[in-house]
This record gives sequence, structure tokens and C-alpha cells, in this order.
Amino acid sequence: HQEKTKVKNIQVIELGKYEMDTWYYSPYPEPYASLDKLYVCEFSLKYFKKKKTLLRHLAKCELRHPPGDEIYRSPAPGPGEEGNPAAADPQIAVFEVDGKKNKVYCQSLCLLSKLFLDHKTLYYDVDPFLFYILCERDAEGYHVVGYFSKEKNSVEGYNLACILTLPPYQRKGYGRFLISFSYELSRKEGKIGTPERPLSDLGQVSYRSYWTRVVLDVLREHKGNLSIKDISEMTAIRTDDIVKTLESLNLIKYWKGDHIISVTPRIIEEHLKTVTTQKTIAIDADKLHWTPFM
Ligand code: COA
Ligand code: NA
Repeated sequence: HQEKTKVKNIQVIELGKYEMDTWYYSPYPEPYASLDKLYVCEFSLKYFKKKKTLLRHLAKCELRHPPGDEIYRSPAPGPGEEGNPAAADPQIAVFEVDGKKNKVYCQSLCLLSKLFLDHKTLYYDVDPFLFYILCERDAEGYHVVGYFSKEKNSVEGYNLACILTLPPYQRKGYGRFLISFSYELSRKEGKIGTPERPLSDLGQVSYRSYWTRVVLDVLREHKGNLSIKDISEMTAIRTDDIVKTLESLNLIKYWKGDHIISVTPRIIEEHLKTVTTQKTIAIDADKLHWTPFM
């Protein structure tokens, strides 16, 4: 892990309406790597030394969304929902971008995300990956919020390689949305998935929080009469991730070498009380237009 020891180079980036302090080193090519501040086009992710050049680029750049296919768009708030807080939620969309077809965009995305990731990730060999870009949508276009990458063919059964929510958008439920989206894709493929390891600390807490919520919801709905394999098939979460989650909640027993879920409705309700304050952005599966990569 050579990169980890390298000193942080770029301190600040400007992206769309946000200025963000960076967290880690990222191997942008020279001369960009030596700059204190980088100006990034929020649509093409091209990077510039000067604000002036970014503005000149923006005047020409016709892209107002990531390249690739829009595979998900949140339902528009209907009329008469004025009093409904959900109607005020931002409109979101997800684009699928193929690393092979849009190499430069995906490489730029990886360089950008490395600014917020402390372990080594890929930057240049993006061909074997698909990238799922989450955007907020408004009259100006699609503003990148975060993304996850996924191997086109993972031998290990990984359904997510790298995940990022850009700092201005963190702690709003977008990470959970992306994780949930990755499992939704696995369900469409008829597969069980798990994220690639190692997870960062933030990745770890986000996954743990997601698994806990999903497993508890399923147990509540089915009054606890389920095996671990049943839960795995319903959620696309790998069985060992479910076992770890149940262990952390103290809801598992061992009987003659088998895992037995040991739970009462009251215990589930008690646990759910502690997690139901979490902000969730629901996925409307009917709005997902996607076929697995072949
Ligand atoms: N401190 C404590 N808990 C946190 C947390 C933090 N900074 N960030 C996320 N969590 C946990 C919480 O349980 C949170 O739910 P809550 O806010 O309702 O308590 C849950 O994770 C999900 O939060 P959410 O708002 O959906 O996640 P996010 O949009 O902030 O994105 C990451 C989470 C991991 C994608 C984001 O932190 C990130 O991009 N980090 C940098 C890159 C990275 O480390 N990626 C993982 C590589 S494996
Ligand atoms: Na949250």
C-alpha cells in the first residue's frame, strides 16, 4: 500500500456549487498533482488549473449528466403532495457508465474519489468495471452526488468494489441508497452479493447499519420464522454477512452446529427503535430499467 504513505497533495477541489476539502492523496497527473486547488467540471469530471479555464470549458461542454444510460429516476412528486415532506426530497437519478466505453470519465471519477479514500484503488484500469453514478436532478442538470463501482464479472461474488458519497452530501442517506441499489442489481441478476474487502471505517459502519436495518425489517415482517438462507435469498445479502449482523444484535444461537435465529417480536421492536431515525431514500424497483451485463 504504497499510496497510503504519500502526502496529501491537492487540498481543495471546486465541483459544481461546492468547494470541498480533500481527505487523502490522489495520483492526478502533473501538473495537476502539485496544485493546491483543482477545478473540476461537475458533468464531465475534467479537471483544470484555473477557474477561468473551467468556465471556458463549461461554456462549451454540452454534457449535463454523466455519460452512459440513465437506469433509474426517482418518481416525481405528484400534485397535491405539498404538505408531504417526501415531496420536497431532491429528485435523483442513477446512470450506468461502462469503464470500457467511457474510459476517461471513469478514470477521472476514480481520481476524484481517491481524494476521499485512504486505501489504494484502481485509477486507470477501468475496463472491467461498471460505474453507477448517483445524481441530484434539477433544471440545470444532473449533479453528481456519489457512486459505486462494480466488476462486470466478479469471481468472488462481489456486487460492489468502491463506494463514495461526496462530502457535502454525506449523512443524508445517499450511502445507504447506493448500498441498497447494489443489492437491488444483485436481485435482478438472481445473485447473492457482498462488497469487496477491505472496507474503510466509514464503509464498515455504513454496511453494518444497512444490514442491521434490512435484517430486522425482514424478521419483523415474517415474525422471525426464517432461516439465514431464507433471509439471504430475500435480500441478496450473503449468509456470513447476515450471521455477523445477527451476532452483533445477539439474535443468534448455535444448536448442533447450526445457526438458529433466536428472537421475539418485542426484541425486534426494541432494536428497530434505535435505527428508525435513520434517513432513508427508498428505491422504487419499478423505476429501475436495467438488464445485467453479459
Ligand atoms: N460517522 C458515524 N456513522 C456513519 C458515518 C459517520 N461519519 N457515516 C455513515 N455512518 C453510518 C450511520 O449509521 C449512517 O446512518 P445515520 O446517518 O442515519 O446514522 C449510515 O452509516 C449510512 O449513512 P448515509 O448517510 O447513508 O451514508 P453516506 O452518504 O454518508 O455515505 C460512505 C457513506 C461510506 C459512502 C461515505 O462515508 C464515504 O463516501 N466515505 C469515503 C469513502 C469510503 O470510505 N468509502 C467506502 C470504501 S469501502
Ligand atoms: Na443516514
